[in-house]
Amino acid sequence: MSKTFYVTTPIYYVNSDPHIGSAYTTIVADVVARYKRMMGYDTFFLTGTDEHGQKILRAAKEKGLDPQNFVDDLATKFVKLWKELDISNDLFIRTTDDYHVKTVQSLFQKIYDNKDIYLGKYEGWYCVHDETFWTEKDIGPDKLCPVCHRPLEHVEEENYFFKLSKYTKPLLEYFKAHPDFVEPDFRRNEMIRILEGGLDDISVSRTSFNWGIPLPFDSKHVIYVWFDALINYISAIGYGRDDKMFNKYWPADVHFVGKEINRFHSLIWPAMLMSAGLPLPKKIFAHGWLTVNGEKISKSKGNAVDPRILVNAYGLDAVKYYLLRDISFGNDGDFSEDNLIVRINADLANDLGNLVHRTLSMVNQNFSELPSPKVESAVDEDLKTLLLKTIDDYFKYMEKFKFTESLTQIWDLIKFSNKYVDLTEPWLLAKDPSKHERLGTVLYNLVDVIRNVSIMLSPIMVKTAQNLSNKINQKIDVNLLGWHKTISGVKIEVGDPLFPRIDTTIWKKVIKMVETNEQVSDKKPEITIEDFAKLDLRVAKIKQAERVPKSDKLVKLLLDIAGEERQIVAGIGAVYTPESLIGREIIVIYNLKPAKLMGVDSNGMLLAAKDGGKLRILTVDGFVETGAKIS
Ligand code: ME8
Ligand code: MG
Repeated sequence: MSKTFYVTTPIYYVNSDPHIGSAYTTIVADVVARYKRMMGYDTFFLTGTDEHGQKILRAAKEKGLDPQNFVDDLATKFVKLWKELDISNDLFIRTTDDYHVKTVQSLFQKIYDNKDIYLGKYEGWYCVHDETFWTEKDIGPDKLCPVCHRPLEHVEEENYFFKLSKYTKPLLEYFKAHPDFVEPDFRRNEMIRILEGGLDDISVSRTSFNWGIPLPFDSKHVIYVWFDALINYISAIGYGRDDKMFNKYWPADVHFVGKEINRFHSLIWPAMLMSAGLPLPKKIFAHGWLTVNGEKISKSKGNAVDPRILVNAYGLDAVKYYLLRDISFGNDGDFSEDNLIVRINADLANDLGNLVHRTLSMVNQNFSELPSPKVESAVDEDLKTLLLKTIDDYFKYMEKFKFTESLTQIWDLIKFSNKYVDLTEPWLLAKDPSKHERLGTVLYNLVDVIRNVSIMLSPIMVKTAQNLSNKINQKIDVNLLGWHKTISGVKIEVGDPLFPRIDTTIWKKVIKMVETNEQVSDKKPEITIEDFAKLDLRVAKIKQAERVPKSDKLVKLLLDIAGEERQIVAGIGAVYTPESLIGREIIVIYNLKPAKLMGVDSNGMLLAAKDGGKLRILTVDGFVETGAKIS
């Protein structure tokens, strides 16, 4: 029987806009799937969308859409996105797919038949955004979600419950017997601490809305969206439908998830499987969160970068290289466009790009085809030793999902190869006909390194690897990793540089802060008190606020200034929602010359403090009548 590998990403909430942080899970899982395929595993790579629940129903209603039409449209966007990011999933599952709905109902029935589901009453708190129940003991007096900090809603409903508490002990024993079950180890320890505190039963049905899978035996209830969603991992591979396929791939080799949903995957999901009498996944790997330039990713901050924008600007391989190299998988990490550019210029354009370009140019300048190695020297031995060690380490690290370490080793090899060029001085060898064979050997050795690099990079930088192997006319075959397995006598093609350098003096970065956010760094010339007196600054109250159509940033405000109504336009829409502005007292420049912004009249300007990515409007400390002057 061939070896199999089953790898999954979480299924994304279908109404979310994926940003560089959320796409990260899938980008990494794709690298693992490609690596395993390369290693000869019959690999199944699953991703998809999570389409039921209160959050999605509300979003559909806000748009005035039927939920099914709403999710159909959104699911297509995800399929397209993953295509654009060259994600190699074998199936895209949707929780509204028929086969999934049936599987969920049958598994629910099975767990019910096993007496692990009972009817009860739920009273507590719910985060609609995370679709998570919280009890008083989990939350503070402010009643905010412990994960996303949004306000919680109080829920009182007749619900079915799953006897999670019953699985506390079996799970604890399982964790002890399988130290690799949850990784990284600090995430595993978090789960063990929760288990040691004891698990409570959880509510697994809802009655206050109906956008979900109906219970097989009580259609007043829909199945709790997480219970529904987790089952995707087995419905996708044919549970209850295609035993052969199911037995081939289950248990999954690894579920990749973000740290905030580790609990669901490492505690609830295994308990569900235990109850249903199914084996547990071999591993749950919970990665960290990405920030952008040190800030939490959020739409209002304008830093929820669409990965496609980055890919268009920098290329997919560069973005993936950067993510896997700079962010230590498992830990939280920061995405910084500056650091991405540094990696492109230093590692890709300089280290790799130069090695390839000068090696291949010298081959073609001095030979009609790739020569074979004939004259060895001591320094070749160093190159060989490092190459072989790099290959060993590559496997070791890739198996453990240590991508940073793996890429660092490869780049050490690339850097040493550049040093090897400096040490062997092929340009001098080229001038001396008696050294021609030595020159051929040096260049062969370098091409041999490039070939090995192309194989090792192939699961990560798919196009680059292909491009490299085409230039040197060699196959990408993992069985050919090793010293001197390059075929000589082939044509070499120099072609264009792999990665052009990015000139930061003219390059425009793509992560833009909202226009009003630009730091005022220039010092302005001194003014007199008379100059200041020219400004008529007044207190105004915001009566109405609405977005200017087709603008992310502009908001139209209707102000009350001592009984007078005034309209102004302000560039604060990326930071404040219109609703949150109504009723606020602000400061305006009352005598500013009127202007039109995107066709809308603006008779004044509000004052705001700007600090890099942050923007806050100026308000008055305590109540003051509108129209009051500022001096
Ligand atoms: O949680 N950095 O879906 P989702 C890193 N539907 N990863 C991030 C991130 C960030 N800033 N923001 C989001 C769900 N993610 C459920 C899953 S599975 C049965 C159901 C990751 O759309 C997040 O950790 O909220 C998760 O792995 C993925 O994006 C999808 O999150
Ligand atoms: Mg989430």
